[in-house]
Amino acid sequence: MITLPQYPNLYLLDHPLIKRDLSILRKKKTSNVVFRTVLSRLTKMVAYEVSSNLELTESDIETPLEKTRGFTLTEEIILVPILRAGLGMADGFLDLLPDAKVGHVGLYRNEETLEPVDYYSKFPRTLRSSLVFLLDPMLATGGSACAAISFIKQKGGGRIRLINLVVAPEGVKKVYAEHDDVPVFAAALDRELNSHGFILPGLGDSGDRVFGTE
Ligand code: PRP
Repeated sequence: MITLPQYPNLYLLDHPLIKRDLSILRKKKTSNVVFRTVLSRLTKMVAYEVSSNLELTESDIETPLEKTRGFTLTEEIILVPILRAGLGMADGFLDLLPDAKVGHVGLYRNEETLEPVDYYSKFPRTLRSSLVFLLDPMLATGGSACAAISFIKQKGGGRIRLINLVVAPEGVKKVYAEHDDVPVFAAALDRELNSHGFILPGLGDSGDRVFGTE
């Protein structure tokens, strides 16, 4: 993973297959069907990378031939996709972390003020003791992510990792300013936001491209 001195909270995933798949998502000619398929594949690789330092618990197991030591994940993990677009990442994470529980937080951006508006939230009871992977393909102004992190903290969640695909400098800085305990993992740090709060070069509106509402 790549770290940059000016963004102490940011961890950039650095894998050729991730870069290839992200490029497919960026292309405007990529259809909704291909977008969903590639998003799912890319998300699995992201899940693999961001799980690389999870703690393990060791115990005795038996192979067909003899006893040896085996491992299970120590911590319970809760996936929290930010609705809607984050839903496109949930299955990829569940493929690799099938025991994870899933919480939801529903936010959309008011397109004039760019402020997040919440419309739904539901979290597993074990939130307080679990490690949360907060999922959203895009981190633009950071308003939605910061609101979601605040919700999770209000409900008792403590340890949170924000997992994005494409992030803008503005969003990474806002998350650091408001929640410096939350690391941000991303496949790419893009250049800037345009006047409508869209990431440049970005990949458009991920929720619209997943669900065909563009
Ligand atoms: C997009 C995206 C993030 C948010 C990022 O969602 O999926 O949730 O915008 O922008 P921000 O960092 O400036 O808050 P959108 O509001 O388009 O809703 P959707 O997921 O329903 O498409």
